[in-house]
Amino acid sequence: MSTLWHGRFAGGPSEALQQLNDSLPFDQRMFREDIAGSRAHVRGLGSVDLLTADEVATILAALDTVEDEIAGGTFAFAPSDEDIHTAVERRVTELAGPAGAKLHTGRSRNDQVATDVRLWTLTALDEVAELVHRLASTLARRADEADERYLPGYTHLQQAQPVLLAHHLLAHGWALLRDLDRLADARKRVDVSPLGAGALAGSSLPLDPNMVAEQLGFSARFENSLDAVSDRDFVAETLFVLSLLGVHLSRIGEEFVVWASGEFGFITLDDAFSTGSSMLPQKKNPDVAELARGKAGRLIGNLTGLLATMKNLPLAYNKDLQEDKEPLFDSIDTMRLTLLALDGMLDTTVFNHDIMEASADSPYAAAIDLAEFLVARGMPFRDSHAVVGGLVRDALAGQGSLHDLVVSHPELGAEAAALLEPGVPVRNRTTPGGTGPVAVAEQLTRFKSALAAAAPASVTA
Ligand code: ARG
Repeated sequence: MSTLWHGRFAGGPSEALQQLNDSLPFDQRMFREDIAGSRAHVRGLGSVDLLTADEVATILAALDTVEDEIAGGTFAFAPSDEDIHTAVERRVTELAGPAGAKLHTGRSRNDQVATDVRLWTLTALDEVAELVHRLASTLARRADEADERYLPGYTHLQQAQPVLLAHHLLAHGWALLRDLDRLADARKRVDVSPLGAGALAGSSLPLDPNMVAEQLGFSARFENSLDAVSDRDFVAETLFVLSLLGVHLSRIGEEFVVWASGEFGFITLDDAFSTGSSMLPQKKNPDVAELARGKAGRLIGNLTGLLATMKNLPLAYNKDLQEDKEPLFDSIDTMRLTLLALDGMLDTTVFNHDIMEASADSPYAAAIDLAEFLVARGMPFRDSHAVVGGLVRDALAGQGSLHDLVVSHPELGAEAAALLEPGVPVRNRTTPGGTGPVAVAEQLTRFKSALAAAAPASVTA
């Protein structure tokens, strides 16, 4: 078998080396990026007369054919095609003859692969941003619809104070807006062309890295050839942004799992986003929410795996870096599916408002309102906390309902007891950013304009 690098070798590669070494099974999905990179490189070689205009045209035509063959599934991969770069170059050489043999002039697979992965990541980040934006928009719509309906707010998963459902949904929405911001920020550091760095040191040929960077639509070219071929920070950052996004989705997932349980009954999931049990006929399971929770582990694993691969690597390229692609592809694929399914689930979930509100209407949830009633009449908060805490203790000990104890308390009375009425505590919260209806209406307006400002180009187009 003859490889692209066989010149120096007397014998062929062992079967075991080949199987370990070959990245074609997973890197062929970058074929469009690889061909785009080759087009730019060939035009670059033409612009400095390392290729004649005819040679450029012949190679570009061969690249078009290769792209059609791979896209159409007719491309015949050879055993010597160890990765997508060698496969494309081999076929171009078959199609373009002597001109094809000049394709790799001044280039290494080291700058080539870094270019391909960056191009692939740019597109992938844009697609993920679009899906995150869609999910955040769904949250905004559901928040809008929820109007002034409320549910218990929790700390320690113990009922704390009632909150508007809109407020709760928007809390997840703001986290997604930060994710959009991080996606856009990470994108800036992906958007740098490594092409022209060569194997590690640049070239003796008059190549122009600026020109190829511009042709490929990159915002900048590399500053240092060693860094250009060794840097996988952009993959690690992408995996981090996806991990944190995954953590956010896992928190939504966990709440929906709990809310869908018989004990809570806060939501009813649409059949299209639930599964049944193979044994228990009555079951309806929240698998989308569970997988949104579970996938976070895999995303974090991909991040930590890549960081471990990168740790201690000497400059410049090392084959270890070939391990960048599978976690990257896996995290992007995982995130795409998770976002789509979670969006569908959120879009179709029925909120059982009466159950949520009945649960939130426990008089104990208004304990802080009673304490603040006393504060407004001049009592130090620590004292009012103790007074109300004592009444709660008495009520729990069976000495009367909290309502009756409040009515008969000399410093509380009927006016304070009115605070225990359903819906009063949540309407009583007036501070900006808090859960009162006026503050939440204002928050929703601010959220929608932040969402509009964060819209990826593909959404505004
Ligand atoms: N398949 C390789 C990778 O993904 C391409 C770069 C190979 N470079 C080399 N010097 N062998 O990293």
